[in-house]
Amino acid sequence: MAYKIAIIVGSLRKESLNRRVARSICGLRGDNLDCSMIEIGDLPLYNQDLDADPPEQWTRFRQQVGAADGVLFVSPEYNRGIPGVLKNAIDVGSRPYGQSVFDKKPAAIVTASPGSIGGFGSNHQIRQACVFLNMPVMQQPEAYLGHVSDDSFGEEGCLKEGPLKELVKTLAHAFHDWVEMIHRSRQLLAEDAAHTAERAKEHA
Ligand SMILES: Cc1cc2nc3c(=O)[nH]c(=O)nc-3n(C[C@H](O)[C@H](O)[C@H](O)COP(=O)(O)O)c2cc1C
Repeated sequence: MAYKIAIIVGSLRKESLNRRVARSICGLRGDNLDCSMIEIGDLPLYNQDLDADPPEQWTRFRQQVGAADGVLFVSPEYNRGIPGVLKNAIDVGSRPYGQSVFDKKPAAIVTASPGSIGGFGSNHQIRQACVFLNMPVMQQPEAYLGHVSDDSFGEEGCLKEGPLKELVKTLAHAFHDWVEMIHRSRQLLAEDAAHTAERAKEHA
């Protein structure tokens, strides 16, 4: 089954390495992940005063993420943390209080950098937000993609053959299985609860 995946990229740069990694992930999992890149560059800065009458960009973003079966964050690291533009998107999606569009959605986090530690700091700050947002985050494989550069990609913009592409392929497959496991477990639990309720009614 193809799951709808909202991909949120934490870079606005046209030639973003992370955006190209995100595109490669979509390509590698083919028909089983129905990926959409959700744009975040136009989101006005989160301000609780606007919750009563939200900007249409916030509404559009919330609807797009809300319609997804899972969320994939692909981001650079800025000054050892989450880029502001991504943190803003996370804040926008998380509110109004009690109406977070991230709630219960399975997630995975990929960070890519030309540096050697592959955005580790950013990756774990995103993970920390996901814990608070009640998103089951895939544990393995972790994806701190270091030493990524323009040379990592072929002419069509996707990752060249090699260990990086293999890791990303493994990740894409694992994420599909993760999303499936979360959704099927919930479905089975719901069926079980309905069955138990039915039996309780019969014996009442
Ligand atoms: C404001 C700023 C802060 C940065 N801080 C880090 C950092 O903490 N760690 C790191 O590995 N790279 C850092 N970089 C370099 C980025 O990893 C690099 O510019 C990368 O290409 C950005 O991702 P993108 O290509 O997807 O836009 C920083 C870049 C900028 C513009």
